[in-house]
Amino acid sequence: MNLLKTFELKDLTLKNRIVMSPMCQYSVTAKDGIPNDWHFSHYTSRAIGGTGLILMEMTDVEPDGRISDFDLGIWSDDHIPAFKKIIDSCHSYGAKVGIQIAHAGRKAEDADQPVSSTSVAFSDDYKAPRELTTKEVEQLVTKFELAFERAIKAGVDTIELHGAHGYLIHQFQSPLTNQRTDKYGDDKSLFGVEIIKAARRVLPEDMPLIMRISAVEYGPGGYDLDYSIDLAKRYKEAGVDMFDVSSGGESRNGPSSTGLGYQVDFANKFKQELNIPIIAVGRMDDTHFSNQVILDQKADLVAVGRGMLRNPYWANEASLALGGKKLTPKQLDAGYSI
Ligand SMILES: Cc1cc2nc3c(=O)[nH]c(=O)nc-3n(C[C@H](O)[C@H](O)[C@H](O)COP(=O)(O)O)c2cc1C
Repeated sequence: MNLLKTFELKDLTLKNRIVMSPMCQYSVTAKDGIPNDWHFSHYTSRAIGGTGLILMEMTDVEPDGRISDFDLGIWSDDHIPAFKKIIDSCHSYGAKVGIQIAHAGRKAEDADQPVSSTSVAFSDDYKAPRELTTKEVEQLVTKFELAFERAIKAGVDTIELHGAHGYLIHQFQSPLTNQRTDKYGDDKSLFGVEIIKAARRVLPEDMPLIMRISAVEYGPGGYDLDYSIDLAKRYKEAGVDMFDVSSGGESRNGPSSTGLGYQVDFANKFKQELNIPIIAVGRMDDTHFSNQVILDQKADLVAVGRGMLRNPYWANEASLALGGKKLTPKQLDAGYSI
């Protein structure tokens, strides 16, 4: 097994184990959450570059669920065609595509009145959110379900749920931001579990569901790895097929080191404890290092973020560096002739 080997999970078959990590483009030309020419070129070029799985950026279930007004959304059927155009294009180059479905909660910076599990602001620079009523939380689960349906209509091969980085699902699962007295406070995994069950209601049975999760929190009183593994077990039982293991985001605090593979140990622990496929992310842009992580079976897939912003053909170059074949289309062959 190595980075260049195919990967299969349910109906999803990837030509290699390289994932484009979801990354908001904050594209000032994006209007009303609809992907535009920038997004089309951005994702298509990573497909041309040989990426096995492209996870499109955080895409929100309602307008005020966006971090900024320049983020993508999928709150109406009008959003579907632009996503479909991108997905069809990526498919034509052999990449598989997922959309990361999310809600920013109290980290929605442009919302007049952000909503959250809590009424406490993320920091002094952020607006104080309004605490959602129990009824409103239930309604949000429905908004996620409708978003999943639209993503499927747009042609996705998988969906990633954003349960990390201090956004709304994370806000509900963390004791730091969930001191509610209703059912969503009694069971901090309930909001996530209900969203996962909603996904399972509408996803084809053989379509895998991925969830990104923060394995640890770094702020004072933040949860630890045992806590997140316990959460993940409940999420797995509700229907998650693979975890994308990241960390932090609940506060301004972060890891003491952000060097090569700084989150791999979390991925490895998740793999051992959950016994399902795992994506490792976080400075995985050194090809040989990433390959070794797969060889050592610490993770099943490797997601590259900033490395792919710098170089859309990262996957192709990784393949060549590991003695594999050229992954780019014929039109680029001359670039590799001596
Ligand atoms: C510009 C930018 C935007 C990002 N947007 C998202 C996002 O939409 N969803 C998400 O889960 N992570 C997001 N991230 C985090 C990345 O997906 C990735 O986890 C992180 O950058 C670490 O990987 P890297 O070291 O390969 O960049 C973003 C990162 C960057 C640099």
